Amino acid sequence: MRPDAGPLPKAELHLHIEGTLEPELVFACARRNGVELPFADVEQLRRAYVFDDLQSFLDLYYLAMNVLRTAQDFTDLADAYLARAREQGVRHAEIFFDPQAHVSRGVPLEVVLDGLEASLSTSAERFGISTRLIACFLRDRGAREAMTTWEALAPHAARLHGVGLDSAEVGHPPEAFAEVFGAARDAGLHLVAHAGEEGPPDYVWQAIDVLGVERVDHGIRAVEDRALLDRLARDRTPLTVCPLSNVRLRCVPALSEHRLPELLDAGLLVTINSDDPAYFGGYVDDNFQALRRELGLGDDVLRELAANSFRASFIDEDDRARLL
Ligand code: ADE
Ligand code: ZN
Repeated sequence: MRPDAGPLPKAELHLHIEGTLEPELVFACARRNGVELPFADVEQLRRAYVFDDLQSFLDLYYLAMNVLRTAQDFTDLADAYLARAREQGVRHAEIFFDPQAHVSRGVPLEVVLDGLEASLSTSAERFGISTRLIACFLRDRGAREAMTTWEALAPHAARLHGVGLDSAEVGHPPEAFAEVFGAARDAGLHLVAHAGEEGPPDYVWQAIDVLGVERVDHGIRAVEDRALLDRLARDRTPLTVCPLSNVRLRCVPALSEHRLPELLDAGLLVTINSDDPAYFGGYVDDNFQALRRELGLGDDVLRELAANSFRASFIDEDDRARLL
């Protein structure tokens, strides 16, 4: 962590590839695909990155990704992330994507998968980063559409490592997705879900007890429920915490008030991640640096958080040989 030592080696476990879409690439894709944008230029788009809550972010996130139309767009998006991630010490990334956000606007699932894979299939050789894909269901589009989406994904299950659950949380509890998560589990996929970002601790209970997830994405509101903390600690269920995201989406008032130290004190397996780094002011090592600066975390804690990222990952024997 000393400046001369370079960033700590780490895995990134909570990263939406669509959330790495930087304004420059938004405009480049818009130009080549003939998509009109309601922003004059890169600077004006960047100035719009001020959010009141999760929904206000999602509105811009879904609008911007409308420029992604071709396999090449998805390849360029993933390549740009990998180049940044290498600079941030990332050695392994389990990457989310949102199939419904593309299929619903006429971009075929195969275009998305082919485009991402054209980049990710050689990520280890080109960037020193092994990669896996996790397809997320958009919870605000409901359980029926999630099942239709799974039916489209199932023939491609071998190209996926897991499924997740994301988008607007409050009012869309995990238990509604029990059936589709069961189908993904039967297909041999890992299970994760966003829960306890804006939603209550009860959503975290549902994610672990009803969906059977192996990791909870965000999960920060678990801190409000002692019995839940004890359960997560006992089972070593990892949380993928995203500090800069939590501040930008006003889930916490300031980084200096983030309750991450309480999660650590309760014995939880906490990891640090960037969520949607193009929108939240930093990639994963920027999150580590901000925790040092604004929460006063020391080298030993930061090293433990980086080590946790490998412990919490779904790396298999091949990855392990390269990484550890
Ligand atoms: N999709 C992209 N980023 C998200 C977040 N932080 N929470 C829920 N859904 C998301
Ligand atoms: Zn997320």
